[in-house]
Order: sequence, then C-alpha cells, then structure tokens
Amino acid sequence: TGIHSNKEVSKKMKRPKFTVPQIGCDVKAGKIINPEFMVRCPAGCQDPKYHVYGTDVYASYSSVCGAAVHSGVLDNSGGKVLVRKVAGQSGYKGSYANGVQSLSLPRWRESFVVSESKPQKGVTYPSALTYSSSKSPAAKAGETTKAYERPSAPGTTAQPAALTQVLAEATHDTLPKPSSCAPLVTSSPRPQPVGPRSPEMGEVDSWKPGSVLLDAGFVPKEEFSTQSSEPVSQGDPNCKIDLSFLIDGSSSIGKRRFQIQKQFLSDVVQALDIGPAGPLMGVVQYGDNPAAQFNLKTYMNSQDLKIAIEKISQRGGLSNAGRAISFVTKNFFSKANGNRGSAPNVAVVLVDGWPTDKVEETSRVARESGINIFFITIEGAVESEKQYVIEPNFANKAVCRTNGFYSLSVQSWFGLHKTVQPLVKRVCDTDRLACSKTCWNSADIGFVIDGSSSVGTGNFRTVLQFVANLSKEFEISDTDTRIGAVQYTYEQRLEFGFDRYHSKADVLNAIKRVGYWSGGTSTGAAIHYALEQLFKKSKPNKRKLMILITDGRSYDDVRIPAMAAHRKGVITYAVGVAWAAQDELEVIATHPARDHAFFVDEFDHLYRSVPTIIQNICTEFNSQPRN
Ligand SMILES: *[C@@H]1O[C@H](CO)[C@@H](O)[C@H](O)[C@H]1NC(C)=O
Repeated sequence: TGIHSNKEVSKKMKRPKFTVPQIGCDVKAGKIINPEFMVRCPAGCQDPKYHVYGTDVYASYSSVCGAAVHSGVLDNSGGKVLVRKVAGQSGYKGSYANGVQSLSLPRWRESFVVSESKPQKGVTYPSALTYSSSKSPAAKAGETTKAYERPSAPGTTAQPAALTQVLAEATHDTLPKPSSCAPLVTSSPRPQPVGPRSPEMGEVDSWKPGSVLLDAGFVPKEEFSTQSSEPVSQGDPNCKIDLSFLIDGSSSIGKRRFQIQKQFLSDVVQALDIGPAGPLMGVVQYGDNPAAQFNLKTYMNSQDLKIAIEKISQRGGLSNAGRAISFVTKNFFSKANGNRGSAPNVAVVLVDGWPTDKVEETSRVARESGINIFFITIEGAVESEKQYVIEPNFANKAVCRTNGFYSLSVQSWFGLHKTVQPLVKRVCDTDRLACSKTCWNSADIGFVIDGSSSVGTGNFRTVLQFVANLSKEFEISDTDTRIGAVQYTYEQRLEFGFDRYHSKADVLNAIKRVGYWSGGTSTGAAIHYALEQLFKKSKPNKRKLMILITDGRSYDDVRIPAMAAHRKGVITYAVGVAWAAQDELEVIATHPARDHAFFVDEFDHLYRSVPTIIQNICTEFNSQPRN
C-alpha cells in the first residue's frame, strides 16, 4: 500500500485541477449512469467477492474495479481507470486473468470496457459521478418490460443455445457446485426468492420485474430462468430478407426527431421478428458520410438489436443519402458482413425532407446489383421549399417502380409510427421484391435457328457458336435467365425448352450438341412453333426474348406469326446472314426495326453483332416504363 499512495501522489501532482472520483471495490458499473468516466479504485479489488462477468467487455453488473484488475489495467494496489459504457451483449464469457476469475453471464442490457486513465484531449470527465437511484424501481421496470417483450409471446428472444453454452461453461470452470445450477434451469419464469436480496436491487429491477439476486451466487436468477423457459426466436420464416436500414443522422433533423427515428427502427425490429431463419438487419447512419452502425450478423435477434439501436448517437452533417446508398451497394451486402445470398437484399432509406445529394444513379446501380430499395420521406418539401430540392421527385427516381409500393411519404415525424406495419408488410412481401431484376437475369430467351440446306455444316457450327456467345452474357439459372432453342427447316423441332437446363455450363453444352438438320426454310411456321412450344411455357413475370437467325427468304408467310409474337409480348430480334431478305427481317423484328433487325453478309461476320445485340437488349430493359 506504500506504493499505492506514492502513485497517487505523483499522478495528482501532474493533473492538479481535475479530481478523479473515488469508488469502492463493490461499485458496479451499472450503478453509475455516466456513459464515460474516470474513477480511482482502492487497493484490494482482486478479492473474489467482487464479482466480475465477462472478459474484455464486462456486463455492467460487474465491479468496476474488479474488472479493471481482471483486464490488467490495474493491479491489486488500485489506481485510476477510464470506463466507457458499451452495448449489452447476448453472452459474456468468464476467464481467469491477473488473479481474478471472471464469470460467464447470458445477455445483459449494458456492458463496459476499462482502459488506462489516459484522458483524451478535449474530453472532460465528470469529477462527480451520477448514481442510479434504487428507489421506485417498479414503475421503471414495468416500462422496460413493455418495451422489450411482445405481449403475445413474451420473451421469444431468450436464447436456449446461448444458455446451454453458458451453463456448460459455468459448470466446467466457474461454478464451484454444479448441482446448484440445475434447479435454476428448470425453475418457473417467476421464481421464488432463494437468497438474500442484494443491496444492488436497482440495477436488476430496472431490467426485469421481480428479479432476485443470488447474492452469494454468481448470476442474477431472473436472467437464468428467463433464458431457460423462453426459447430464442429463430426469426419469422415468412420474411427471410437481408435488410439494411439507412437512417438520417443529419444535423437538421434535431435530437428529438432523431430519437423518434430510433424508436421507429426499434418498432420495426420488434414487428419483423429478427432471427437466423427469418429477417436479419443492419443499420447504416448517414450524414456527410455514411457509417455502418452494425451489419447483418452483429445482432441476430430483435431484443439485442433494439438495445443496440437505443445506443446509436447522431452523426450530424448533411443528408447525403446517395453516398450512403453507394456505400451500402459496395460494402454492406458482402458475405463477410452476413449477407446470406439466399435472402433478398432490401435497403430502406429514411430521409428527413430531402437528400443533399443525388440518389437516382446510385440507386440504379444498387438495384442492378440486386438491392430492392425502399424510400421513406418524412416531412418532404412543401411547395415553397421545392426550389431547394436538388433532385426533384428523387424518391420515384430511386425506386424501381413508381406505383407507390416502394416509396412512402410521411407528413410528420410524429406520425411515423403509423408506417411500421405497412413497411413491414411490404419488405416481407418477397414475391414483389423484383427490383433486383436486371437485363442479365430476368429473361426467357428462345433461339430460333435456321437449319436449312443452304447454311451448310460449317456455317451451322458458326451459328451455334453465335448462339452460345450470346447466351454466355446472361446469368443463367432456373430463377434467372433461362434459354431455350428451336431448329427449323420445313419442319420444326424443340432442341431444348426453358426448364431443361439450370446452369450456364449445361446450356452451352446443349447448344454444342445441336445436330444440323438440313432442309427447306419455313420461317413463319417456325415462329408459330416457337410461340407454342417455347414461349407458352415461359413464366408470367419473365421478359420473353426471341432471337431468330436465318440465311434466306422464307418459303411461307412470316407476317402473321410475327404479329402474333409481338402481340404476345415476345420481343423479337431477327438476325439475317448472306441471302436473308432485309424486308423480311424488319417484319419479323419488334419495332423499331433498327434496334431489333441485324444483317451480316457472311457467317464469319456474325460475331460482330453479338455486342450490339446484347447492348440493345439491356438498353431496352432499362428504358422500360418503371411503373
Ligand atoms: C464467339 O466467341 C469466341 C470467343 O470470344 C470468338 O472467337 C468467336 O469468333 C465468336 N463467334 C461468334 C460467331 O460470335
């Protein structure tokens, strides 16, 4: 202790103006309300009676000074430490370090970290701490319960898996008497008091009503019993989406509205029922620049997510939503950030008023990379403010259809809560999440190949290569683009239908294997046949593309079958080689012919039209009316 006092004296002399508040070894972090503070610990806090829960990150139910010794920031002679509160965790792992055995604990509402007392420049630490009152905890407890539990299925967020793990750990290395653990696991949700009430009741009571501490034991009983009796939700399986929430943290929004925004987020999380088998959600806050608050796999249940949301602080700055959408496209939906691939990607952008940058182009890129964008505009520009809006009608430009499904406009922040249910319903309507369709992944493409005698074996191979080269450009699977092929002479035959092959490799192989038929040229009959045998089996939501390749004038009439194709919404490209008739190609092709009819003078030049055809297909796709 001689060393201890020397240390104190020297530190005091260096920073004479600031008095660091002194606390006892028994003071738990949760008793202190300040989010960040410096304290002086006395000597002797290594004593096991000052319980510590966790490693590196400690549950706020731990002794501050005990945690400081465990983490190696202090030794048993005491001294100053810096304490910072952080989000609650879904589990804390005990470990032995620096003479202190810390304990495991299932989820707790708040955590803290300790570090050496190197005060940051410009930060003033409180010289007196604010302690939470343990008076009248009942009212507070009622409120908390209401906010964190579903009335219909209370506590669906508890975690049996985590519990088992924690119990197993506890049994192995933290609990001296494993048998004393068993009754806790099987006890009822409202257990009888089994030990003396702790002097620290306020801490637990503000979390759950009727909590009882095992003063001589290791963990608050309510935590354990809740975990055991109420299994954690796996999430709503009818809403399996990977969701990114972009929240507006701009300065203009103000503290109060930012708080409303967080409440909205929290309500959405509650309504969604987050879980590994259902929706997962991360949050990006944007101001001048965007930053991920947490990604898809940071919190895997509604409860943890809500606690984390409550702790988000406002960034300030402008309202650069466009930049944020770009950030989400590039970074958020990566596999490393928890994107499952098997679930649609959805981004919901909340905007106060209007964005301070453009969103149309970045949103288009986002949609084309598979992200379904929803816009919620709150307190949008009124008539007199419209002059300030950088991109008029921004929400409609950002979303994939202007039918109102993907954009919501809310008159006032104070009415935002009414949007919770409509929004949840829409983002969970996975059948309608079709914004992610691109020209590469959304068509049924039927090739109609002229196999007449005039083509010849060698050129027929070139035609097949042309068909393969076009096919290669698309994303092929049973849910993306599908390919089918018909060969014709006087007669027609189905080489393969849309549902035959489900991968690009299989399709390319099948194209290679098409055998040259040889015969006459009945192009009209071939178009009719393709409509009946190929496109009739196309899916209703698919774009239908027909690519017809011929080297001569048809023996039969093409006009009526071509009109039938156009009427049925089959976009028809006509590619003529050598003796093909220009006028006929133009009749076959969808209007305008200059975009859909192509002619090359010899088979060896076919390859030249591949890029143009692909480009036209995509241009046409992107210029489709979006409502
Ligand atoms: C197909 O692509 C290959 C490889 O790029 C190229 O060598 C060939 O000329 C192309 N053929 C046609 C007909 O497009």
